[in-house]
Amino acid sequence: MEVVLLPTAQDCGRVVADAVAGSVLAALARGGPVVLGLATGSSPLLAYRELLRRHRDEGLSFAGVHAFLLDEYVGLPAGHPESYREVIRRELTDSLGLDPAVVHGPDGSAADPLQAARDYEQQLLAAGPVAVQVLGIGANGHLGFNEPGSSLASRTRIKTLTEQTRVDNARFFGGDVEAVPRHVITQGLGTILGAQHLVLVATGERKAEAVAAAVEGPLTASCPGSVLQLHPHVTLVVDEAAGSRLARAAHYRYVLGHKLADQGW
Ligand code: GLP
Repeated sequence: MEVVLLPTAQDCGRVVADAVAGSVLAALARGGPVVLGLATGSSPLLAYRELLRRHRDEGLSFAGVHAFLLDEYVGLPAGHPESYREVIRRELTDSLGLDPAVVHGPDGSAADPLQAARDYEQQLLAAGPVAVQVLGIGANGHLGFNEPGSSLASRTRIKTLTEQTRVDNARFFGGDVEAVPRHVITQGLGTILGAQHLVLVATGERKAEAVAAAVEGPLTASCPGSVLQLHPHVTLVVDEAAGSRLARAAHYRYVLGHKLADQGW
């Protein structure tokens, strides 16, 4: 795992955009179609805006890319503005020029969400592997909506959100916790590990404990983010605040300052 400690959230956005664009373009050069895994939440927003800037100003093209979402709420009507499918279209894929037909997400409005979860796992496996998966991390260490206690080998399935996660996400529902769905469909931790490159971004003091546990703590279901320690290609990008509890921060800074010219992310 490469831990990239940077001064500001803006710096993180630029490096995440570099890492994502680099892996997508390399996969496209090998022959598409290419699968880009997208997370929602606030952490990836600066990176998404940087990708949009490069698309607009520098001609960065994701033609031939299929986007797959990490997770989705259960029970929101199709088209609900806070459904993750609508959020990602609004914040990234429409402006990146991706046809909605190549933006895929779990069907949280399905009559049978259990089957919808199984269907999404199969759809992802058929389209994959995911070339690069963007990730955030919850304050409690969750990845996607894999809450603490999730099996490290789990696949796409229904999960029940903790009250903490519903409180954390209420900001997207006018502050009304009761408006946050209780159930979700999320790629499992085993599913996430199937991606070729994982790029996690975390900023702010609120994530410092989760980042330290994920990177330097034991491999444990109590911190789903610790599953990153099993993956062969992880780029974990944090600002000083989110990296403030990392015991080996000096080492990560030294490595970053001594990379080979073409080492990439
Ligand atoms: C939600 C999402 C996760 C995201 C997490 C942190 O639970 N399902 O994918 O990583 O929130 O969100 P934020 O980046 O807004 O802190």
